[in-house]
Amino acid sequence: MKIDIVTLFPEICRAPLGESIMKRAQEKGIIELHIHNLRDWTTDKHHVVDDAPFGGGQGMVMKPEPIFAAVEDLRDMTQKTSNAQHPTPNIQQSKIENRKSKIILMSPAGRRFDQQIARQLSQESHLIIVCGHYEGVDHRVIEHLVDLEVSIGDYVLTNGAIAAVVVVDAIVRLLPGALGHEQSAVDDSFNRGLLEAPQYTRPAEFRGWKVPQVLLSGNHAETDKWRKEQAIERTRENRPDLL
Ligand code: ADE
Repeated sequence: MKIDIVTLFPEICRAPLGESIMKRAQEKGIIELHIHNLRDWTTDKHHVVDDAPFGGGQGMVMKPEPIFAAVEDLRDMTQKTSNAQHPTPNIQQSKIENRKSKIILMSPAGRRFDQQIARQLSQESHLIIVCGHYEGVDHRVIEHLVDLEVSIGDYVLTNGAIAAVVVVDAIVRLLPGALGHEQSAVDDSFNRGLLEAPQYTRPAEFRGWKVPQVLLSGNHAETDKWRKEQAIERTRENRPDLL
Protein backbone atom coordinates (compact mmCIF):
# COMPACT_ATOMS: atom_id res chain seq x y z
CA MET A 1 0.00 0.00 0.00
CA LYS A 2 1.16 3.49 -0.82
CA ILE A 3 0.23 6.31 1.60
CA ASP A 4 0.74 10.02 0.92
CA ILE A 5 0.06 12.45 3.77
CA VAL A 6 -0.33 16.12 2.89
CA THR A 7 -0.01 18.43 5.88
CA LEU A 8 1.26 21.83 6.99
CA PHE A 9 3.16 20.03 9.76
CA PRO A 10 5.12 17.09 8.32
CA GLU A 11 7.18 16.74 11.49
CA ILE A 12 4.08 15.91 13.54
CA CYS A 13 3.63 12.79 11.40
CA ARG A 14 7.26 11.85 10.88
CA ALA A 15 8.28 10.79 14.38
CA PRO A 16 5.32 8.56 15.33
CA LEU A 17 5.21 6.92 11.89
CA GLY A 18 8.97 6.34 11.92
CA GLU A 19 9.05 4.10 14.99
CA SER A 20 8.30 0.52 15.93
CA ILE A 21 5.75 -1.37 13.81
CA MET A 22 5.22 1.56 11.41
CA LYS A 23 8.96 1.74 10.82
CA ARG A 24 9.22 -2.00 10.22
CA ALA A 25 6.23 -1.98 7.85
CA GLN A 26 8.16 0.49 5.69
CA GLU A 27 11.42 -1.44 5.91
CA LYS A 28 9.62 -4.65 4.91
CA GLY A 29 7.98 -2.88 1.94
CA ILE A 30 4.46 -3.42 3.31
CA ILE A 31 3.82 0.30 2.98
CA GLU A 32 5.46 3.10 1.05
CA LEU A 33 4.88 6.24 3.12
CA HIS A 34 5.48 9.81 1.94
CA ILE A 35 4.83 12.86 4.10
CA HIS A 36 4.47 16.13 2.17
CA ASN A 37 4.27 19.80 3.07
CA LEU A 38 1.17 21.39 1.51
CA ARG A 39 3.10 24.66 1.09
CA ASP A 40 5.17 22.96 -1.61
CA TRP A 41 2.10 23.28 -3.88
CA THR A 42 1.61 27.02 -3.38
CA THR A 43 2.65 29.32 -6.24
CA ASP A 44 2.92 32.70 -4.47
CA LYS A 45 5.97 34.19 -2.81
CA HIS A 46 4.61 33.81 0.73
CA HIS A 47 3.30 30.23 0.32
CA VAL A 48 -0.17 31.22 1.49
CA VAL A 49 -2.51 28.28 2.15
CA ASP A 50 -5.47 30.02 3.83
CA ASP A 51 -7.74 33.06 3.50
CA ALA A 52 -10.66 34.77 5.26
CA PRO A 53 -14.08 33.10 4.95
CA PHE A 54 -16.62 34.50 2.49
CA GLY A 55 -19.65 35.77 4.40
CA GLY A 56 -17.48 36.81 7.35
CA GLY A 57 -16.74 35.00 10.58
CA GLN A 58 -13.81 34.05 12.75
CA GLY A 59 -10.73 32.21 11.63
CA MET A 60 -9.24 31.28 8.31
CA VAL A 61 -10.23 28.76 5.68
CA MET A 62 -7.80 26.57 3.73
CA LYS A 63 -7.71 27.58 0.08
CA PRO A 64 -8.66 25.01 -2.56
CA GLU A 65 -5.84 25.57 -5.09
CA PRO A 66 -2.85 24.04 -3.23
CA ILE A 67 -4.94 21.09 -2.01
CA PHE A 68 -6.24 20.28 -5.52
CA ALA A 69 -2.72 20.70 -6.95
CA ALA A 70 -1.17 18.41 -4.32
CA VAL A 71 -3.76 15.65 -4.61
CA GLU A 72 -3.82 15.71 -8.42
CA ASP A 73 -0.02 15.57 -8.57
CA LEU A 74 0.24 12.69 -6.11
CA ARG A 75 -2.59 10.80 -7.81
CA ASP A 76 -1.08 11.26 -11.29
CA MET A 77 2.38 10.38 -10.09
CA THR A 78 1.19 7.09 -8.60
CA GLN A 79 -0.78 6.11 -11.69
CA LYS A 80 2.08 6.99 -14.03
CA THR A 81 4.48 4.90 -11.93
CA SER A 82 2.11 1.94 -12.17
CA ASN A 83 1.91 2.40 -15.98
CA ALA A 84 5.64 2.60 -16.41
CA GLN A 85 6.14 -0.66 -14.54
CA HIS A 86 3.59 -2.47 -16.71
CA PRO A 87 3.89 -1.53 -20.39
CA THR A 88 1.56 -4.35 -21.52
CA PRO A 89 -1.82 -2.71 -22.27
CA ASN A 90 -4.01 -5.17 -20.33
CA ILE A 91 -1.84 -5.16 -17.28
CA GLN A 92 -1.55 -1.40 -17.56
CA GLN A 93 -5.32 -1.08 -17.38
CA SER A 94 -5.71 -3.38 -14.42
CA LYS A 95 -2.84 -1.65 -12.65
CA ILE A 96 -4.53 1.71 -13.08
CA GLU A 97 -7.65 0.25 -11.52
CA ASN A 98 -5.62 -1.36 -8.75
CA ARG A 99 -3.90 1.90 -8.04
CA LYS A 100 -7.08 3.94 -7.78
CA SER A 101 -6.31 6.56 -5.20
CA LYS A 102 -8.61 7.07 -2.23
CA ILE A 103 -8.64 10.69 -1.07
CA ILE A 104 -9.27 11.19 2.64
CA LEU A 105 -9.69 14.49 4.47
CA MET A 106 -9.05 14.57 8.21
CA SER A 107 -11.69 16.80 9.79
CA PRO A 108 -13.72 16.93 13.02
CA ALA A 109 -16.78 17.17 10.76
CA GLY A 110 -16.05 13.80 9.14
CA ARG A 111 -17.42 10.28 9.63
CA ARG A 112 -16.24 8.87 12.93
CA PHE A 113 -13.29 6.55 12.38
CA ASP A 114 -13.60 3.02 13.74
CA GLN A 115 -12.19 -0.48 13.26
CA GLN A 116 -14.59 -1.17 10.39
CA ILE A 117 -13.41 1.88 8.43
CA ALA A 118 -9.81 0.89 9.23
CA ARG A 119 -10.48 -2.57 7.76
CA GLN A 120 -12.11 -1.12 4.63
CA LEU A 121 -9.25 1.32 4.07
CA SER A 122 -6.67 -1.44 4.59
CA GLN A 123 -7.96 -2.96 1.32
CA GLU A 124 -6.98 0.13 -0.72
CA SER A 125 -3.75 0.33 -2.69
CA HIS A 126 -3.20 4.10 -2.49
CA LEU A 127 -4.36 6.55 0.18
CA ILE A 128 -3.88 10.30 -0.05
CA ILE A 129 -4.61 11.80 3.37
CA VAL A 130 -5.12 15.56 3.50
CA CYS A 131 -4.86 17.15 6.93
CA GLY A 132 -7.14 20.07 7.66
CA HIS A 133 -6.14 23.07 9.75
CA TYR A 134 -7.51 26.46 10.73
CA GLU A 135 -11.27 26.76 10.89
CA GLY A 136 -11.90 24.49 7.96
CA VAL A 137 -11.29 23.72 4.33
CA ASP A 138 -12.97 25.33 1.30
CA HIS A 139 -16.01 23.13 0.71
CA ARG A 140 -15.20 22.58 -2.98
CA VAL A 141 -12.38 20.31 -1.78
CA ILE A 142 -14.95 18.14 -0.02
CA GLU A 143 -17.49 18.25 -2.85
CA HIS A 144 -15.16 17.66 -5.79
CA LEU A 145 -11.95 16.04 -4.59
CA VAL A 146 -12.35 14.06 -1.40
CA ASP A 147 -13.81 10.51 -1.23
CA LEU A 148 -14.15 10.34 2.55
CA GLU A 149 -14.03 12.86 5.40
CA VAL A 150 -12.78 11.21 8.59
CA SER A 151 -12.89 12.33 12.22
CA ILE A 152 -11.08 10.36 14.92
CA GLY A 153 -13.57 11.37 17.62
CA ASP A 154 -15.98 13.96 18.91
CA TYR A 155 -13.42 16.55 19.95
CA VAL A 156 -11.44 19.18 18.05
CA LEU A 157 -7.68 18.93 17.66
CA THR A 158 -5.43 21.82 16.63
CA ASN A 159 -4.82 20.12 13.29
CA GLY A 160 -5.50 16.99 11.32
CA ALA A 161 -1.90 15.72 11.25
CA ILE A 162 -2.30 14.18 14.71
CA ALA A 163 -5.50 12.48 13.54
CA ALA A 164 -3.80 11.24 10.34
CA VAL A 165 -1.15 9.47 12.44
CA VAL A 166 -3.90 7.65 14.34
CA VAL A 167 -5.66 6.59 11.13
CA VAL A 168 -2.46 5.41 9.40
CA ASP A 169 -1.40 3.40 12.45
CA ALA A 170 -4.78 1.68 12.73
CA ILE A 171 -4.78 0.78 9.01
CA VAL A 172 -1.16 -0.34 8.66
CA ARG A 173 -1.23 -2.77 11.60
CA LEU A 174 -4.02 -4.64 9.75
CA LEU A 175 -1.89 -5.24 6.65
CA PRO A 176 -0.57 -8.79 6.25
CA GLY A 177 2.90 -9.12 7.78
CA ALA A 178 2.82 -5.83 9.70
CA LEU A 179 2.30 -7.46 13.10
CA GLY A 180 4.46 -10.27 14.40
CA HIS A 181 1.52 -12.59 14.94
CA GLU A 182 -1.35 -12.35 12.46
CA GLN A 183 -3.55 -13.57 15.29
CA SER A 184 -2.97 -10.41 17.31
CA ALA A 185 -5.09 -8.32 14.91
CA VAL A 186 -7.78 -11.03 14.93
CA ASP A 187 -7.98 -10.99 18.73
CA ASP A 188 -8.23 -7.19 18.92
CA SER A 189 -10.86 -5.29 20.77
CA PHE A 190 -13.70 -4.41 18.33
CA ASN A 191 -12.88 -7.25 15.97
CA ARG A 192 -15.93 -9.21 17.07
CA GLY A 193 -17.89 -6.14 18.10
CA LEU A 194 -16.71 -6.53 21.72
CA LEU A 195 -13.81 -5.21 23.75
CA GLU A 196 -10.93 -7.59 24.38
CA ALA A 197 -11.00 -9.84 27.47
CA PRO A 198 -8.55 -9.05 30.32
CA GLN A 199 -4.98 -10.32 29.82
CA TYR A 200 -2.46 -11.46 32.44
CA THR A 201 1.19 -12.47 32.45
CA ARG A 202 3.71 -13.70 35.03
CA PRO A 203 3.84 -13.63 38.01
CA ALA A 204 0.75 -15.76 38.69
CA GLU A 205 0.43 -13.90 41.99
CA PHE A 206 1.36 -10.22 42.45
CA ARG A 207 0.83 -8.41 45.78
CA GLY A 208 -1.60 -11.13 46.70
CA TRP A 209 -3.71 -10.67 43.53
CA LYS A 210 -4.01 -13.98 41.72
CA VAL A 211 -4.42 -14.56 38.00
CA PRO A 212 -7.83 -16.23 37.36
CA GLN A 213 -7.37 -19.98 37.84
CA VAL A 214 -8.97 -20.84 34.47
CA LEU A 215 -6.08 -19.17 32.60
CA LEU A 216 -3.58 -21.42 34.40
CA SER A 217 -5.62 -24.58 33.89
CA GLY A 218 -4.58 -25.33 30.30
CA ASN A 219 -8.22 -26.04 29.44
CA HIS A 220 -8.73 -24.22 26.12
CA ALA A 221 -12.50 -24.64 25.96
CA GLU A 222 -12.92 -23.23 29.48
CA THR A 223 -10.46 -20.42 28.73
CA ASP A 224 -12.37 -19.43 25.56
CA LYS A 225 -15.66 -19.49 27.44
CA TRP A 226 -14.20 -17.32 30.24
CA ARG A 227 -12.74 -14.83 27.74
CA LYS A 228 -16.07 -14.52 25.94
CA GLU A 229 -17.91 -13.84 29.21
CA GLN A 230 -15.27 -11.34 30.32
CA ALA A 231 -15.36 -9.56 26.94
CA ILE A 232 -19.12 -9.12 27.27
CA GLU A 233 -18.76 -7.95 30.87
CA ARG A 234 -16.03 -5.45 30.02
CA THR A 235 -18.02 -4.15 27.06
CA ARG A 236 -21.12 -3.75 29.25
CA GLU A 237 -19.03 -1.79 31.76
CA ASN A 238 -16.96 0.44 29.44
CA ARG A 239 -18.86 0.57 26.14
CA PRO A 240 -22.51 -0.43 26.55
CA ASP A 241 -23.24 1.30 23.23
CA LEU A 242 -21.46 -1.58 21.45
CA LEU A 243 -23.83 -4.24 22.81
N1 ADE B 1 -8.88 17.86 12.97
C1 ADE B 1 -9.24 18.48 14.10
N2 ADE B 1 -9.94 17.68 14.91
C2 ADE B 1 -10.04 16.48 14.25
C3 ADE B 1 -10.66 15.25 14.57
N3 ADE B 1 -11.33 15.05 15.69
N4 ADE B 1 -10.55 14.25 13.67
C4 ADE B 1 -9.88 14.44 12.51
N5 ADE B 1 -9.28 15.57 12.16
C5 ADE B 1 -9.36 16.59 13.02
